[in-house]
Amino acid sequence: MRVAVIGTGYVGLTTAVSLAMNGHDVLGIDLVEAKIVQLQKGKSPIYEPGLEEALALVLKRGNLEFTTNIADAREAEILFVCVGTPESADGTADLSYVYAAASDVEALHRSAPRKRVVVIKSTVPVGTGDRIAEKLRELDGLHVVSNPEFLREGNALEDALHPSRIVIGTAHEAAAETMEQLYQGVNAPRVATTRANAELIKYASNAFLATRISFMNELARLSGALGTDIVTVALGMGLDSRIGPEFLRAGVGYGGSCFPKDTIALLQLAHQNGISMSILEKVREVNATQPIWFLEQLHKRQGNVAGKKIAVLGLAFKPETDDIREAPSLKILEALQNAGATVAAYDPIAAQVVRPLFPQVEYVGNPAEAFKGAHAALLITEWKECIHLDWEAIKSDMAVPLLLDGRNAWPSQSLKDAGFDYTGVGRS
Ligand SMILES: NC(=O)c1ccc[n+]([C@@H]2O[C@H](COP(=O)([O-])OP(=O)(O)OC[C@H]3O[C@@H](n4cnc5c(N)ncnc54)[C@H](O)[C@@H]3O)[C@@H](O)[C@H]2O)c1
Repeated sequence: MRVAVIGTGYVGLTTAVSLAMNGHDVLGIDLVEAKIVQLQKGKSPIYEPGLEEALALVLKRGNLEFTTNIADAREAEILFVCVGTPESADGTADLSYVYAAASDVEALHRSAPRKRVVVIKSTVPVGTGDRIAEKLRELDGLHVVSNPEFLREGNALEDALHPSRIVIGTAHEAAAETMEQLYQGVNAPRVATTRANAELIKYASNAFLATRISFMNELARLSGALGTDIVTVALGMGLDSRIGPEFLRAGVGYGGSCFPKDTIALLQLAHQNGISMSILEKVREVNATQPIWFLEQLHKRQGNVAGKKIAVLGLAFKPETDDIREAPSLKILEALQNAGATVAAYDPIAAQVVRPLFPQVEYVGNPAEAFKGAHAALLITEWKECIHLDWEAIKSDMAVPLLLDGRNAWPSQSLKDAGFDYTGVGRS
């Protein structure tokens, strides 16, 4: 099928590449010319495992092209809207990019009418798809479908090729049939529903995952005080099939481009409808204080960190991505700098995007370098490069062998046995 994807960021580019890999003819569209030029050369502007290789493959096969001009999409029968929906000043989702993309589609359709489905993949508040449909109502042959995206950064391409579910929100039979044709051969459960339900499924999923994380982080604070081990507790909980093992890891809090903005957008949506979502408010509160709580563990052990060297391992909001949007590392770097610490940071991919924000931090080329002369080391992102380390060498390199494991990913017992002062999140 002929498909156009508006917006070639984390979701749009992954969607475009995965659809092209599945044999469709795809046109990726973005406003940012530099991005399009880079993509045309087969260079991915974002880091995602396997994405650049897959991009090269589909470019070579001729299944994927890029443009800045939506008029080039006149042949497309399906147009995906994958533009950003960032947080506005009042916490609601900023829909200006989505509405601008819808206007672009409208202009295209007016100049080159044909049967078309507009697919809203961006995460949008309930009612947005209906409002766009209303705006485009009088255009013959154009139907709006909600098809939210559930990919996880760091595993985006795999998730797009093998999704956990495909949610299709539309009441229009022919549009639903077109979507089914598009996803033919993709083995995933389908949820066929209304646009509004599809939109809420996306927010509810992210809010629920954020809730699990904050629940575990708050429990970890108690676990630390009780001298119990949150990792073992999570293991025992997760074996209950009603709970399951995912998203039970205590840490320094969630970040990224989705959970922070989607939880506040859902709260605002509830507020606009006169509903209080107090659990979700607390989820955000716990998350906002988790990096600070974590740093208190450092201050308890090191006292004043002014003039001391602190190693920070990992900066991206999670491993295998270069995305630092709302990353806990940013709060931690800021607090360490305000406390007068000298910071040496390592991240295999994201250091280059953090550097302009924190130019005083020393960015080192390998983890071992960060530990040299450090009075403490903090694990913030569990990149494998930051976990499998030569601990013997590190012990002799550090000024003080103090380790604060913000992801409970370092080998706690063997580190303690080796003489490190090790503290995890909520571990005995
Ligand atoms: N990043 C994720 O993990 C993820 C997962 C699921 C859903 N989502 C949702 O998907 C949407 C996109 O997220 P993202 O992380 O890919 O955003 P992003 O910021 O990485 O990418 C958005 C892209 O859209 C482009 N753009 C904006 N307006 C445009 C227009 N009118 N025409 C063409 N291009 C335009 C921008 O230049 C940018 O390249 C958001 O609503 C987000 O909540 C994101």
